Amino acid sequence: MPKAKTVFFCQNCGAQSVKWIGRCPSCGEWNTYMEEVIQQERRDDRARNVKPQEPRLISDIDWSDQHRISMVDRELDRVLGGGLVPGSLVLIGGEPGIGKSTLMMQVALRMEGKRILYVSGEESDQQLRMRADRLGIRNRDLYILTETSVQSILHQIGKIKPDLVVVDSVQTLQTDAVDSSPGSVSQVRECTSELQKLAKTSGIPVFLIGHITKEGYLAGPKVLEHMVDTVLQFEGDRHHMYRILRATKNRFGSVSELGIYEMQSSGLREVANPSEILLSQRDEQLSGVVIAATIEGLRPMLIETQALVSSAAYGTPQRSATGFDVRRMNMLLAVLEKRCGFRLGMKDVFLNIAGGIRVDDPAIDLAVICAVLSSNADIPVDKNVCFAAEVGLSGEIRAVNRIEARILEAEKLGFGKIVVSGYNIRNLHIKKFSIQVIPFRRIEEVYTFLFG
Ligand code: TYD
Ligand code: MG
Repeated sequence: MPKAKTVFFCQNCGAQSVKWIGRCPSCGEWNTYMEEVIQQERRDDRARNVKPQEPRLISDIDWSDQHRISMVDRELDRVLGGGLVPGSLVLIGGEPGIGKSTLMMQVALRMEGKRILYVSGEESDQQLRMRADRLGIRNRDLYILTETSVQSILHQIGKIKPDLVVVDSVQTLQTDAVDSSPGSVSQVRECTSELQKLAKTSGIPVFLIGHITKEGYLAGPKVLEHMVDTVLQFEGDRHHMYRILRATKNRFGSVSELGIYEMQSSGLREVANPSEILLSQRDEQLSGVVIAATIEGLRPMLIETQALVSSAAYGTPQRSATGFDVRRMNMLLAVLEKRCGFRLGMKDVFLNIAGGIRVDDPAIDLAVICAVLSSNADIPVDKNVCFAAEVGLSGEIRAVNRIEARILEAEKLGFGKIVVSGYNIRNLHIKKFSIQVIPFRRIEEVYTFLFG
């Protein structure tokens, strides 16, 4: 018998090596290489089974039956690009405890009239039933299967003929074709490719839940991203109630869409109007709190930015930011230092984006600067005003995209004034808004506006 062929795989990114290496040259993680047995014959068998395909003219391919399946969840449908495409393979990833199983169970329960198979390799029947009861929705067409072998799962799918399959989670799956343990790169890859084949040949859409762990033995879903049609990321701070669902890859839609949920004791609630929850309901005016009109994905939302500036207790001032890039904050502080002559070098600066969400929209810059200035001077900023502009290195207030959507959102939420870049309103009839649009071009003008 020939010696079993083994290869070392990086458990984080899936890179291969013939020998063990301490640090993965591909993703830079330490101590992630694991030895796995490769069965060469099986792969050759599979290659032989593939039917040769003939090329076809693109105009001859019929696509009219590509209707979308509604998931009975507006946020999820939106992120998928208007519903689920039959035969697609969707991977939903996220940290443990973020609510992936809850979301998929909830969706499966809500899809009345559709036959759904929920495969779990993580929880027992009883635990799943408990979760379903907690969610308080009943669905007579939901089948539960606690199984980890892909072959048995495929067998059951053939028997039940479901309209949708959910697999929780891909790291628990196991196939006979590979010898290594569940969760290893070659197992995860092989199992996914078998489910992919099922989805493509039968048209049954498959949802895969995947874990994201930095260390440990579970394979990072990075390996899978190439194999699936859509990758959804479920994120949020576990200590906050809000969860954000975004697509990082979507063959059937845009990746700029975003779904927002609130985790409640009876499951995830869709949040139709995010701004209302991201603004704290406060009456009194506090210094260091400023509202930014941002756009996440395609949705405008107003977010509270909080800053705390205090004298540095130790030699080196501390800079820390939650939900915002620290390097960008340091850049903005340097702009303030240089252009407005603020001595922030001896101050600790803390920044926090309310609601536990992360903002990458550059339009939040001006709000960050105003929050820092307000906290530094201990003078509150009028809570009737919000801000939407980027700040450049020379202290200029720069234009941002989709300014009209931002202004309209601020107007809808009852703000009286919005501060924007003077370069942004050239083609805009600011008179038509009931909200007062205030254009500025330099950071110094904003300072005068804030503190007189
Ligand atoms: P879960 O879906 O198990 O997370 P994942 O599958 O991503 O690991 O959900 C985990 C958390 O959600 C858990 O801490 C409890 C909380 N939760 C609620 O707050 N309300 C609910 O209705 C449910 C089912 C869970
Ligand atoms: Mg789970």
